[in-house]
Amino acid sequence: MKVAKSIASFRVWRKGLTERVVFVPTMGALHHGHAELFRSARALAGRKGSVVVSLFVNPTQFAPEEDFLSYPRPWRKDLSVCQESAADAVFLPSAEEMYFPDRSITVEESLLSASLCGRSRPGHFRGVCTVVSKLFLVVQPTHAVFGEKDWQQLAIIRRMVRDLNFPIEVRGHPTVREADGLAVSSRNAYLSAEERAMAPLIYAALRSAALEISPRAIVGRAKKLLGKISSARVDYVEAVEEASLQPLKNRRNSGRLAAAVFLGRTRLIDNLPLPRLA
Ligand code: PAJ
Repeated sequence: MKVAKSIASFRVWRKGLTERVVFVPTMGALHHGHAELFRSARALAGRKGSVVVSLFVNPTQFAPEEDFLSYPRPWRKDLSVCQESAADAVFLPSAEEMYFPDRSITVEESLLSASLCGRSRPGHFRGVCTVVSKLFLVVQPTHAVFGEKDWQQLAIIRRMVRDLNFPIEVRGHPTVREADGLAVSSRNAYLSAEERAMAPLIYAALRSAALEISPRAIVGRAKKLLGKISSARVDYVEAVEEASLQPLKNRRNSGRLAAAVFLGRTRLIDNLPLPRLA
């Protein structure tokens, strides 16, 4: 497995490749959700293709009060997860390698980023779009795999690839969950024992609410159920169209029920599909 810390050394490795290059960008602190993405990247790449993982805690997508400094960076363990998942190369740049101190160009998606997490995390998706564009230009993948757990991120990346004509096929991977339903996340490690015990109730609430028919009833029931979780503070819960992320008006289009909930100081997100009803 090639480990490249500089853009130049990654490019030397990339030069010889003519088959598929399937890319999974991550911020490290790898868990079995990431490992499943790597496995599906491996399957997509086949025997002749290559799987590339990036490990980079991107400073520009964190707000000053967020957890950039405390975000876990277990690089040694992460590299062995990549190795075990049969990745062919890992791109592991420093912040200095990725960003010039006097940088003055960013990539901003202006419509889908305004709602959901974008509302409570201003500038977050500008940071994501900028770093993912840069990573795409370094890695030059033919395919990229993103998790549905971050549904808004996936929708924004699809829009960015479309609008900027990146020659990359974006694939979504279903949310990987713990046995009790909690979506796997690096941030689950921040939860206290009591918060961890409450956390599966978020997915349970969304699932139960999704049994309603109209988007209004679904959101109403989800709010009510999430509101009952002790020590939880609901940041948002919304039913949106799956690609445009505009409010879902009826069930003639496929949608997504998405929520962000604070358990103590930890903000957890989750979402599930609202299939179109004939
Ligand atoms: P990170 O949170 O490390 O996630 C990397 C990828 O793993 C994302 O595509 C995310 O959706 C996916 N993922 C995380 N938990 C998952 C789960 N439980 N099930 C399925 N997929 C899951 O997302 C980022 O990093 C960053 O914003 C990044 C795209 C790397 C840009 O910095």
